[in-house]
Amino acid sequence: MQINARRLVDRSAVITGGASGIGLASARRMAAEGARVVIADVDAVAGEQVAAELGGLFVKVDVTDPEQVKDLYAQTQEAYGSVDIAFNNAGIAPPDDASILDTDIDAWRRVQDVNLTSVYLCCKHAIPYMQQQGKGSIINTASFVAVMGAATSQISYSASKGGVLSMSRELGVEFARQGIRVNALCPGPVNTPLLKELFAKDLEKAARRLVHVPLGRFAEPEELAAAVAFLASDDSSFMTASTFLVDGGISGAYVTPF
Ligand SMILES: NC(=O)c1ccc[n+]([C@@H]2O[C@H](COP(=O)([O-])OP(=O)(O)OC[C@H]3O[C@@H](n4cnc5c(N)ncnc54)[C@H](O)[C@@H]3O)[C@@H](O)[C@H]2O)c1
Repeated sequence: MQINARRLVDRSAVITGGASGIGLASARRMAAEGARVVIADVDAVAGEQVAAELGGLFVKVDVTDPEQVKDLYAQTQEAYGSVDIAFNNAGIAPPDDASILDTDIDAWRRVQDVNLTSVYLCCKHAIPYMQQQGKGSIINTASFVAVMGAATSQISYSASKGGVLSMSRELGVEFARQGIRVNALCPGPVNTPLLKELFAKDLEKAARRLVHVPLGRFAEPEELAAAVAFLASDDSSFMTASTFLVDGGISGAYVTPF
């Protein structure tokens, strides 16, 4: 994909889960648009590689750890002098999170920690820098499952994404007059390792989901990255507290084409 826009020059962008999938594609896209990127991930091998490729900074962080998250933004401020964009995107969808009847409390809590508590921590520690600057854009990755129900359930995942969506809306409202925008990105199914892990063992499940996508395919990570760059940039200056669906039409469909 040829990128001509340079909307993020001189801005720093912290990307959690930046070593893979949507985070990786978004890091590449934001760097191509001029941003200084910080790759924040538990995966040090892939994370270092991505940071080197993009001339950015890698910070090894477990997004469930309050001190590590606090330190992530302090390191960004120190390295680049600002925290302009926070893409809070790290997430997991483990196979032991399924129907409520089969999901034990440990699986429930792990998913809540990584997918929801992490977003609380990232926003909590990024916002003070943005308040000082009087400007900032936060993008939190929720999911289309935050607005729709599935019979092939991942109960903690869906609940965590509902929490991300609702938290983003509230933060968007609270901080709007301080120049800080907060939007929830709600992807449909995207062709990433996370999706593959979920469906690798169950092709029937994958086919069952594809039926509901009007565009008839899963998204590519670069298609989400384009949306992230838009939300990060001033092109979306009148958008905050939004439910930004990039879902191939799923949420609008009642009956899909053959
Ligand atoms: N792929 C999809 O179909 C899809 C659909 C809707 C929403 N999402 C959401 O998009 C986000 C990114 O998903 P993806 O498909 O790119 O996943 P992915 O598995 O490709 O990448 C996730 C990244 O997060 C990192 N990560 C996991 N736990 C972490 C932790 N505790 N601390 C720091 N980093 C951690 C991983 O190391 C990995 O690099 C997730 O929040 C996911 O729930 C994905």
